[in-house]
Amino acid sequence: MVGDVAGVNGRRLRVGVLISGRGSNMQALIEACARPGFPARIALVLSNEADAAGLLRAKEAGIATRVLDHRGFKKDRPAFERALTAELEGAGVEFVCLAGFMRLLTETFVGHWRDRLINIHPSILPAFRGLDTHRRALEAGVRLHGCTVHFVRAAMDDGPIIVQAAVPVLPGDTEAALAARVLAAEHRCYPLALKLCAEGQVRVKGERCILAGVAAQEAALINPPPVLG
Ligand code: GRF
Repeated sequence: MVGDVAGVNGRRLRVGVLISGRGSNMQALIEACARPGFPARIALVLSNEADAAGLLRAKEAGIATRVLDHRGFKKDRPAFERALTAELEGAGVEFVCLAGFMRLLTETFVGHWRDRLINIHPSILPAFRGLDTHRRALEAGVRLHGCTVHFVRAAMDDGPIIVQAAVPVLPGDTEAALAARVLAAEHRCYPLALKLCAEGQVRVKGERCILAGVAAQEAALINPPPVLG
């Protein structure tokens, strides 16, 4: 993605954000995009759930929103996805961020947006793909947990890793406490990943991300803060 990527040469990358729920990661992206000089702007927030709380947040920020209820497409997933792409492209979207979008996507959609479609997942991938990551991390007794922003591939929670953050798992952690700690890290990681992509600092090679320059490489690893003493 280095070189001719949109967002370089002073142009701001036009981003679409897909949500299904509260939209706190979307909010983090909105706030980042509002910062002077940020290389991306959100052209559309699209939800498959009409009552997603994130839609209100987006409207309050003055961002265009759309609802595309997958149930209206019966079980025709390709038709739903064609409609998604039509909405996104109709709004001039060049790059898509999944932010708690709770639909699995087919190879056709993922292929259409290849290396222009990113997701945030609440674990250090490839550990804990799928749902209930915090409960499973506690059950596994891991000392570190965290989150990942990655390019999307057809397999679930799979694809070249852009940014990861680790957080400690502390004695006595509940699922909710751990989820909150990870979520705070998510809100740092997602804007950073979008920035790196929009600046053309991320190149996919052999299903791995190559980050341009040491600064980007360092930025993409958010270390756990010291916990004890
Ligand atoms: C986040 O934990 C994200 O990692 C996962 O879904 C959750 C969405 O939360 N993919 P929010 O809607 O961004 O608050």
